[in-house]
Order: sequence, then C-alpha cells, then structure tokens
Amino acid sequence: MTATLTQLPTQQALQAESLLSVKSLTSHYGRIQALHGVNLSVGAGQLVALVGANGAGKTTLLRAISGVQPVSGGDIGFMQQDISRMGASQRVRMGINQVPEGRQVFAPMTVEDNLKLGAFTRSRAEMAESLVSMYELFPILKDKRGLPAGTLSGGQQQMLAMARALMASPKLLLLDEPSMGLAPLMVREIFQLIQKLREQGITILVVEQNARAALSIADQGYVMELGRIVMSGPGAELLRDDRIRQAYLGM
Ligand SMILES: Nc1ncnc2c1ncn2[C@@H]1O[C@H](COP(=O)(O)OP(=O)(O)O)[C@@H](O)[C@H]1O
Ligand SMILES: [Mg+2]
Repeated sequence: MTATLTQLPTQQALQAESLLSVKSLTSHYGRIQALHGVNLSVGAGQLVALVGANGAGKTTLLRAISGVQPVSGGDIGFMQQDISRMGASQRVRMGINQVPEGRQVFAPMTVEDNLKLGAFTRSRAEMAESLVSMYELFPILKDKRGLPAGTLSGGQQQMLAMARALMASPKLLLLDEPSMGLAPLMVREIFQLIQKLREQGITILVVEQNARAALSIADQGYVMELGRIVMSGPGAELLRDDRIRQAYLGM
C-alpha cells in the first residue's frame, strides 16, 4: 500500500493532525483478553468506520476510548495528550462523547429533557443554542420534544441519542452500531445524517456490523477480528477488497 512508501515528514504531519491516536491498546474482562494491541487513529474532521463481526471487540474499544472500560496496556492519545488514565467524565469535558450500543435514551423523560441532559457540561446559553441547532438537524425531535422518549420509534431514538451526544458539542463523536435493529429506510436515513455531521466538520468514529453502509461513507476504515485490527485503509478501498467482500459483504 502507498502508506508504506510515504516519507517520514509526511507521516509526522499526519500524526500531528490526528485527533485520536490509539496505540497497542489491550483490555481484559477478567482473564479474557478482548483487545490485543489495537492501533487506530482518527484525523480531525474525519469519518472513520470500524467494522467487524459480533464479538470482535468493537464496543470494548469504544468504551475504552470513552473511559468506561479499563485498559490493561497501551495508550490513548487525544489532542496530543495521553488520556489513558483519565476518568470518563474528564474525557467528556475534553470533548469525547459516546452514543452507546442500543441507544439508551431515558424513556420516561421528554425528548427535550433527554437533550438537555447531554449538555450538562455547558452553560445555559450554550444549551439553548445547541437545542436550536439540534432541532434544525433533527426536525422530528422538535415535533416530538414534549413527548416521553420511550414513545419514539427505534430510528427516532437513535436520532435522539445522537443529538443528545451532540448537545455537548463534542470534538469526537463515538457511535456504537447506530443502525442496529432499524428498518432499511431508517438505516439509510441514519447514515445520511452521519454523513451530514461529517460535512459539518464533526469528527466521528462509528462502529458498525453493516460494513457496506459504514465503509461507503467512511474516509478511513478499520476491520477488527478477535480483538485485533486486521485491515485498514480508505473506506472505498476496503469495499473493493476481495477478502472484505467475502467476509463482510456476502459477495
Ligand atoms: N461484560 C463482559 N464480560 C465478559 N466478556 C465480555 C463482556 N463484554 C464483552 N465481552 C467479550 O469481549 C469480546 C468483545 O466483545 P465486544 O467488544 O462487545 O464486541 P463487539 O462490539 O465487536 O460485538 C467478546 O468475546 C465478548 O464476549
Ligand atoms: Mg458491540
């Protein structure tokens, strides 16, 4: 691949631009090792997709980045700082926000109150401003702002979970399986929204089992198997790769 031919100064420049840089990361559940020396980087403004089968370790990696999963080795750099030992709330304050697998909105609370919760680190004025822009980005949430979040459809709940994370005005948005369990039309809508967020300059790391959809919108893609990154490259390139096509795209 061309990357190996790249000269040193360019590589250094690339590293300087990377917002998130995960190096040799390991993580365990008791004696079971879930991450085996993971390397991954996300450049500022990039949309990066991490794909892989169920159980590959994708969620574990996202949770390690956001600080809710302990790591046993390696490091996590964010904005040129080592954040490996920082607590989860400090990472939120630094601008890392995760939308967890299964969305996890607060069902009895209204849509608007769910959104406000996402802005707990911010001032009242910033919160009000963010609410306006979230309602612009997700008009359906404006229509339903007074309803309990539990009454929303799966796709609308996914939008709410994304909007809630965006309320914190994150520098890095982590999305865990945003299309899981959604009907095909809604899957398309969610991926279009993710693309729109990227166009607005938001840096995104998205985990997906829907490899085709994720890689087709990604600047960079990573493939994870059994806790290891086994392939990486521009999304479009991975989509054309025979091994990926056979293993993940059913072709
Ligand atoms: N809470 C847990 N306790 C023990 N093992 C876990 C736990 N969560 C995940 N694992 C294991 O870690 C591995 C990676 O899981 P996970 O990160 O959830 O994968 P993915 O998100 O790619 O489906 C799997 O083998 C899974 O069984
Ligand atoms: Mg998962």
